[in-house]
Amino acid sequence: MPFVSFAFFIFLSGCMMHGMAGDGMPEPKGPEFWKYIVEENPYRTWNFFPGKEGLYRGTSPHGAFLKVYVNDLAYRAALEGKPMPYGAIIVKENYAEDKKTLMAVTPMYRVKGFNPDGGDWFWAKYGPNGEIMAAGRMEGCIKCHGVHRNADWRFLHVAK
Ligand code: HEC
Repeated sequence: MPFVSFAFFIFLSGCMMHGMAGDGMPEPKGPEFWKYIVEENPYRTWNFFPGKEGLYRGTSPHGAFLKVYVNDLAYRAALEGKPMPYGAIIVKENYAEDKKTLMAVTPMYRVKGFNPDGGDWFWAKYGPNGEIMAAGRMEGCIKCHGVHRNADWRFLHVAK
């Protein structure tokens, strides 16, 4: 039955393309996600959010100074002015007034089906050495970012 095996092959490659299996993305959980962004795909090697290169003065409630990194998927979507696809990660570093002391790392990570009511974003807050201060469907993050629920739950956008 060559047709059946061909159809199965198409099905399998479809799964792989859609990230259902073996796409190397981390689970939306505090420790796994931290390991991914510091060891497996270190965020400090990523691009900055377009238009926000380097350290810049932040707004409340995040740090006095911020750095915002994006993985490839998030970078491309930002440049194209499109919604972030599943697998997009934005990592924000929050620095103290001295511009040097890292206070916290607050990422958001889009995961299909993780939290449909909250734009499917996984939120976390880590201390500078990866201590988990919050991770998951964080009400605080969701409430405030929710003012932009129609714009991907993001404050930062790049004008087209
Ligand atoms: C009271 C409002 C508020 C809360 C609570 C809040 N944020 Fe934000 N967030 C902001 C604002 C404002 C910005 C834009 C910062 C800037 O560039 O000056 C922002 C930016 C970000 C960004 C950069 C991408 C974007 O949305 O523009 C990330 C990532 C982020 N926040 C993560 C988090 C996480 C994780 C939490 C919860 C632990 C959180 N935020 C809680 C207001 C908030």
